[in-house]
Amino acid sequence: MDMHILAIDQGTSGTKAIVTGADGTVLAIAEEPLRPGYLAGGAVEQDPLTLLDSVFTAGRRAVAAAGVPLDAVALANQGETVLAWDRDTGAPLTPAVVWQDRRAEAICAARAESAAKVAALTGLVLDPYFSAPKMRWIRDNLTTGGVVTTTDTWLVHQLCGAFVTDASTASRSLLLDLDSGRWHGELLDVFGLGAEALPDIVASDAVVGSTGAFGGDVPVTGLIVDQQAALLAESCLTAGTAKCTYGTGAFLLAQLGGAAVRSRSGLSTSIAWRLRDAVDYCVDGQVYTAASAVRWLTDLGLITGADQLDAVAAADGAGVLCVPALAGLAAPWWDAGATASFSGMTLSTGRGHLVRAVLEGVAAQVAALTALVGDDLGTPLNRLRVDGGLTRSRVLMQAQADLAQLPVDVYPSPHATPLGAAACAALALDPALTAADVTGGWRPSATYEPEWSADRAADHLARWHAAAAATLSTP
Ligand code: G3P
Repeated sequence: MDMHILAIDQGTSGTKAIVTGADGTVLAIAEEPLRPGYLAGGAVEQDPLTLLDSVFTAGRRAVAAAGVPLDAVALANQGETVLAWDRDTGAPLTPAVVWQDRRAEAICAARAESAAKVAALTGLVLDPYFSAPKMRWIRDNLTTGGVVTTTDTWLVHQLCGAFVTDASTASRSLLLDLDSGRWHGELLDVFGLGAEALPDIVASDAVVGSTGAFGGDVPVTGLIVDQQAALLAESCLTAGTAKCTYGTGAFLLAQLGGAAVRSRSGLSTSIAWRLRDAVDYCVDGQVYTAASAVRWLTDLGLITGADQLDAVAAADGAGVLCVPALAGLAAPWWDAGATASFSGMTLSTGRGHLVRAVLEGVAAQVAALTALVGDDLGTPLNRLRVDGGLTRSRVLMQAQADLAQLPVDVYPSPHATPLGAAACAALALDPALTAADVTGGWRPSATYEPEWSADRAADHLARWHAAAAATLSTP
């Protein structure tokens, strides 16, 4: 079945829209860059109307460039970014509080006695990264009016009037019972959110309404978290397959299959997707600042942009290490108060060493996570699939292969996330298709093999772990 899907990836650093044709071919692309406000006190905010405008603008530009009639509109979302809005008018009542925002740290600390119960029910860790603490923070600090939801619910409401979220996004909230896939009263009570109107939880291949926002009236379907969308696009369909997306942050996700196994390693477990009436789960680890750290280097004037990384990075780190904890540390440290560090510098340290140290720092943190995923799976990963803008850095990709001691397969398209959302929509449109039909068959555009010895990698990681421990707010 030939179908044309507008798939929109509403991300932290930009909104990308693609139009796909037969077999997922990308017919057109449009992007609208976004720059979150990085404010004092760990605040990270976006203007909701700018997000919405970016969705309409990128979507309409892609549709105009493709010049084909649409069959569906799909939307991938940031996962844990929340706002309050008026359900009658659709008007935002607050800024969007971004997943990187640390201001809900005290809200989590005040609920520490519930941490074990929350973890057991949700598969997640009580941390301000997830949605519910930020929802509580909005209620305590900004407004008690309207509804408070993740951005997907608001954007979909703007498109078609539905009040929904998909199962993968719901599973990032700390409000979902991971086993039943339903909102859980005790969890709502932990965050004092029991009186809130909560969206209906839908499958990623559910049709939730229709929109004329992009020309013609077409179904809205293919709702999913951006990271999970990339997992799907990269065809991580069997337990033990894993991918890392190097975007604003770097996110490692491994497929668990149909078992909602809780991590024993300090990672988080969530819903990969609900498709074809079946739920797949995934375990994930996070590096909160990857492209964010590169942008920070750019803002400091050490490079002019990400495309300069490999030209500026020194051939060797010369002992300089970076822990890129510019927005705290996630799994397995879960320390919102951790701060970034450079160590091992001397008078001969140059900017090339600092740039290499940042890239190796991201790679080391991902390598630490790949080891933990292996612990949870009971068997080490044997390859790592990767996507995202920073995969263009050969230095980063080689460091990743070296430090994780894994072959690294680069996904051939820069559009894994919207392709994953489009795959969900394709499943909605054609009941005969399977997930393998809509994501299989890709070949890596490049594979990086480890060049370092296992001993050298272990030595580097041991020193990096010691540096990471020194960044913690409570050593
Ligand atoms: O958990 C946050 C993550 O999904 C955001 O992804 O692509 O906006 O950096 P991205």
